[in-house]
Amino acid sequence: MLDSASGAVVPAMHSASTFARDENYELRDGFVYSRYGSPTTQQGEDVIKALEGADETLLFNSGMSATVAVVESLPMGAHVVAQSMMYHIGLNWLNRQATRGVIGFDSFEAGNLEALAAVIKPGVTKLVWIETPANGDWSITDIAAAADLAHAAGAILMVDSTAAPPCTTRPLELGADISFHSATKYLNGHSDLTAGVLSARAGLPIWEEIRTVRGFQGTTLPGFEAWLLIRGLRTLYIRYKTASDNAMQFARHFEGLDGISAVLYPGLSSHAGHAVAARQMTAGFGGMMSLLVDGPKGRALAMAKAAKVFIPATSLGGVESLIEHRLSVSGEGYGIPENLLRLSIGIEHVDDLITDIEQALAATA
Ligand SMILES: Cc1ncc(COP(=O)(O)O)c(C=O)c1O
Repeated sequence: MLDSASGAVVPAMHSASTFARDENYELRDGFVYSRYGSPTTQQGEDVIKALEGADETLLFNSGMSATVAVVESLPMGAHVVAQSMMYHIGLNWLNRQATRGVIGFDSFEAGNLEALAAVIKPGVTKLVWIETPANGDWSITDIAAAADLAHAAGAILMVDSTAAPPCTTRPLELGADISFHSATKYLNGHSDLTAGVLSARAGLPIWEEIRTVRGFQGTTLPGFEAWLLIRGLRTLYIRYKTASDNAMQFARHFEGLDGISAVLYPGLSSHAGHAVAARQMTAGFGGMMSLLVDGPKGRALAMAKAAKVFIPATSLGGVESLIEHRLSVSGEGYGIPENLLRLSIGIEHVDDLITDIEQALAATA
C-alpha cells in the first residue's frame, strides 16, 4: 500500500483527532473527527475489505466492542441466538443483555445445525451468531447451511471467524451477512494491540446503525493501532500457514499418545467437524487446538505451569505459542472440562513445541 503523496512503500500513520476544513468550509477527505474515523483506520479497513471480498468494513478498538455494536444496532427486544460454547465473554455479555431485557436470547449446541434450527424463531429472531472454529472444542459450523437457516427465518447471520482469518475462510462468500474478527488475534498476529472488525456486503439494513453506534461509543480503532494492524496484515498468510502446518504436525504427534485422551483439532479426521472444515477452511486449519489430559485432577493446570516454550497466557493467533488452562481463565458455566488445555500454536520450530509439551507431560506424570 504505497503512500500516494511520497511514494513511501509503507503508509503514513495519522493520529490526529480532528481535521481542518478547506477555504469553502468543506471537509477535505470526508474526515471530521477521529471518533468517527481517520485516514489510517480507513486504510486498514480497505485492506480487510479486500481480503474479505466485502463492500463495507469497520474497525473497532476491540473484538468485543465490534460485537456489542452489532447487538446494539438491532431493534430493542430483538431475539438473538448464539452457541452455548463460544468465546465466553461474548456469551456472558449476551446473557447479561437478556437478563436486563434488552434482547431475547437462546443458545444452541455449537456445530449442531438441528439444534440451531430448533432455537430460531421465524420472523422473531433477528441475529444468528456463530463462531467457527469455536473456542473450547473448536467445533465447526457449516456457514452456508447456517446462513440458509437464518435467512429462511428472516434473520441475519454473523460469523465470528477469529480462528479462521480471510486467507482461509471468507464467510461473506459462504452466505454470511457479517464477518467478524477479533483482529487482536491472527489479523494483527503480534499480540501488541486489541482490535475488532466487521465486514458486510452493500445494503445490509443495520450497517449504518452499526457505524452510528461506533461513533456514539467512541470505539473506532485509533490510528496508531490501525497502522500496527496494517503492518501485521502484510504477513497474515505466511503466519497463518506456518501456524497451521505446525499445528497439524503437533496434533498428529499427540493424538493417541500416552497422557493425552483427546486432541481436539479440526484438521484431524477424528474431529467431528473435519469434513466441513476441510470445505470451508481452504488454506489450513489454523493453530488453535485443545488437549484433553489424562490423569489426576490438576494435571492439566500443572502442565500449563511446566511449559517452557509455550507462554502461559490467554489470547490466540500471535506468532508466539500460548498455553492456557482454560477453566482457570473462563471459570465454570461455559462447558470447559477441568482437563482441557487450550493451545495457540505459533510459528516457532514445531520440534521445540512438541518437545516442550512432552517434557510438561513427563514432569507431571
Ligand atoms: C473467538 C473470539 N471472539 C471474540 C473475542 C473478543 O475479542 P477482543 O479480545 O479483541 O475484544 C475473542 C477474544 O479472545 C475471541 O477469542
